[in-house]
Amino acid sequence: MRIGVPKEAFTADRRVALVPGLLPALVKNGHEVLIEEGAGLAAGHPDERYRDKGGQVVASRDELFEKSEIVTTVRFAGAARDSLADDLKRLREGQIVIAMTDPLGEPAAAKEVAATGAVLFGMELVPRITRAQSMDVLSSQALVAGYKAVVLAANEVPRLFSMEMTAAGTLAPAHVFVIGAGVAGLKAIATAKRLGAVVHAYDVRDAVAEQIQSLGGKFVTVDASSDAAEDSGGYAREMGEEFLTRQRAKMAEVSAKCDAVITTAAIPGKPSPLLLTADGVAGMRPASVIIDLAAERGGNCELTRADERVVEHGVTILGPTNLPSEMAGHASQMYGKNLTNFLELLFDGEGALDLDTDDEIVKACMITRDNEVVNERTRESLGLPSEKPEAEGA
Ligand code: NAI
Repeated sequence: MRIGVPKEAFTADRRVALVPGLLPALVKNGHEVLIEEGAGLAAGHPDERYRDKGGQVVASRDELFEKSEIVTTVRFAGAARDSLADDLKRLREGQIVIAMTDPLGEPAAAKEVAATGAVLFGMELVPRITRAQSMDVLSSQALVAGYKAVVLAANEVPRLFSMEMTAAGTLAPAHVFVIGAGVAGLKAIATAKRLGAVVHAYDVRDAVAEQIQSLGGKFVTVDASSDAAEDSGGYAREMGEEFLTRQRAKMAEVSAKCDAVITTAAIPGKPSPLLLTADGVAGMRPASVIIDLAAERGGNCELTRADERVVEHGVTILGPTNLPSEMAGHASQMYGKNLTNFLELLFDGEGALDLDTDDEIVKACMITRDNEVVNERTRESLGLPSEKPEAEGA
């Protein structure tokens, strides 16, 4: 197959879907890999490296789409709204596109892709099951974001994170509070700890207490957090308003003692839970910082404005929405590895294309096929009826 890698069209995304090191294995399996000129440059991979690894560099996006049977990008459809209209004209029936597509946040984009006849796969729909771990782009990109959030926080606060005993006196360590201990949160805890901070962490799922403690974090509890907070997929459930009120009081109490607060609380497909109120921020130390990783879906802090710097009550609040792009080298390396692992599922033992929807990962990620939106969760977001036939006798 001809696999194409266009330059990311979404404003200022520096990542690239495949890094040169992944090409030899694809070429060995009989594929040709086409790269749009300059596609890897911002991630640290000039065209020459792709050529050295067996790739062919093509001059334009039009040529890339025209020649590729499978197009692999970091963002497409709902995750690249500003370029979609242009790209829709380049798609053709049966062409496969694999990308992050924000199918639940921007489901209407999936409908537009369906109309072209292209087969769209959304990498963020990879289920969190053991067999799919090597394809889980949300985890690989959240890991980068959790790390970078701590680096940003350390850059903002006017003190060292580490305790220092020096001839010029003793410096107390910084206190960092991480709210939400999923992938990004756990990486933030580990990174802040490595810089020498005292780390406090909270999650609505009690099950993560052990993981927080094993990283050296202090687990913060709110009365009555429980196993009911976790669904069968290992993700958090939405909690009641009364519980959230108690949570907010606790978050404010701990934040008031900290120099940096990193918020990562999320429930898939839902707006971010509001955990740090404006009053909570008012109680924080002067010159402290909040890094709100949940900014894209409204933020965990009431005062967050996506991709803006807000200063209120002497506290700086940052809501960066695309930190993986700022660490595009490693973010692309992991994204590309996730993607090539997924790609293997689309071929049979003889190397022929086989979109086997009996495979639960392929089925979960397939968003469009034969001019239809076929993904159940995306259909639900669009208000379309379920594709499943009615059970007999129902
Ligand atoms: P995850 O699902 O692994 O972790 C989210 C955690 O939040 C879970 O442990 C969950 O139990 C917890 N949570 C949910 N509701 C809560 C509540 N009310 N109180 C406390 N904890 C609660 O998600 P992941 O992959 O770690 O991502 C975290 C967030 O970071 C998401 O919003 C994601 O979209 C965002 N993200 C942001 C990036 C950026 O550049 N800003 C990049 C990558 C991810």
